[in-house]
Amino acid sequence: MTAKFIVRGGNRLSGTVAIGGAKNSALPILTAAALAAEGESILDNVPDNSDIQHLCAILEALGCQVERVAETTLRIRAQHLENHVAPYHIARRLRGSTYVMGLLLARLGKGEVACPGGCEIGARPVDFHLKGFKALGAEVVVEHGAMVSQSVNLRGGRFYVDRASVGTTVNMIITASLAPGVTILENAACEPEIVDLANFINAMGGRVRGAGTNTVRIEGVDRLHGARHEVIPDRIEAGTYMLMTAAAGGEVRIENVIPEHLGTVIAKLVEAGQEVAEQGDCVVVRSRPIRSVDVETQVYPGFPTDLQSPWVALMGLADGIAVVQETIFENRFGFTNELIRMGANIKVDRNTGIVRGVERYTGAPVEARDIRGGAALVTAALAAEGVTEIGGVRFIDRGYSRMEEKLTALGADVKRVTVEEGP
Ligand code: UD1
Repeated sequence: MTAKFIVRGGNRLSGTVAIGGAKNSALPILTAAALAAEGESILDNVPDNSDIQHLCAILEALGCQVERVAETTLRIRAQHLENHVAPYHIARRLRGSTYVMGLLLARLGKGEVACPGGCEIGARPVDFHLKGFKALGAEVVVEHGAMVSQSVNLRGGRFYVDRASVGTTVNMIITASLAPGVTILENAACEPEIVDLANFINAMGGRVRGAGTNTVRIEGVDRLHGARHEVIPDRIEAGTYMLMTAAAGGEVRIENVIPEHLGTVIAKLVEAGQEVAEQGDCVVVRSRPIRSVDVETQVYPGFPTDLQSPWVALMGLADGIAVVQETIFENRFGFTNELIRMGANIKVDRNTGIVRGVERYTGAPVEARDIRGGAALVTAALAAEGVTEIGGVRFIDRGYSRMEEKLTALGADVKRVTVEEGP
């Protein structure tokens, strides 16, 4: 059985949507909670999407106790983390499982974790992670589809993070927190999710300095203890609802956001003619005729690659031509083939999408193949004439909790249906 969204387009959006905790913060923070050999951690504002559920299942299989004590609150106890092998078929499903390798090296001095799959948006190798582990004294090799390490003499080290990789920066911070000595990361990722992770580890008794800049210094400590922490709001989920409002038309108040984390997205939306007002921890978007605006994805604080796909869906309805350049992942335009079925006029040349605005989209059966490409199809479907049937909702569920409920509350006509798997 598989889930589909049936979207009848044309309804304007209005009302308020509350944004959940950031998936890309919650994944490293949950993993880091398992670094604690004593006490328990309480994590608030943890989203309930399938990536988080899979990570919880991996941590439980390693011997941790993970309990959802309230809708968005998890309790983690990791005293009995004793198993060094992550279940292969769960770990391979999400990119965030690479962090479990760092955790196992730090806690047990050995580990075995399936090479991650995640979304089909490019090759997404783990070579930077392996180089980083080596710099900290851990030889990790890829064997039979898994990262494996038996020989570990963990200690601090100096490491240059290629391409300011987010995942590698996370993994180094997690591993180095319990590695004797000092680790210096150069060209580290500066994303807000890195700062959130560092704040949590520091609350656990760790010593991470400089997070949010491109040089991070981690002093390894002997032990970490549990702590309470509230995960930051998901800037990508917030940005998605902002772009959906602009595409579908209407006025939506997006609550529980940190507007500073959305600076570039707000600036680009304003450039595209939309009205955006910041009010404390809310952003209000009021739609206006859409102007074509070029975008190039960049590491934070640039325009996030995770909003490139919904941006293309929005630009597909704009008044001219927009050039969208993807600089982070090499294969992130796959979803445009599905948008074209809906009437979009898009030409893709390697990492550049040329989007010529059309008057309207028309509903069609389409298929999501990655989280954000899926969000782009929903964005287009909300604005389209007629009914769009979106398959591959399991991808959307990896990054967005209850999207159909949130959109329905805003006046959209979105239904989740379960159907037999097609041929
Ligand atoms: C994280 C986010 C993802 C976001 C991305 C960029 C999570 C779980 N996912 O992904 O939503 O789109 O940051 O903001 O937080 N690379 C290598 N070798 C490696 C690691 C990365 O070649 O070992 C390449 C990647 O293929 C990509 C680039 O480096 O082209 C940057 O990737 P990275 O920042 O590591 O992204 P993720 O951590 O996978």
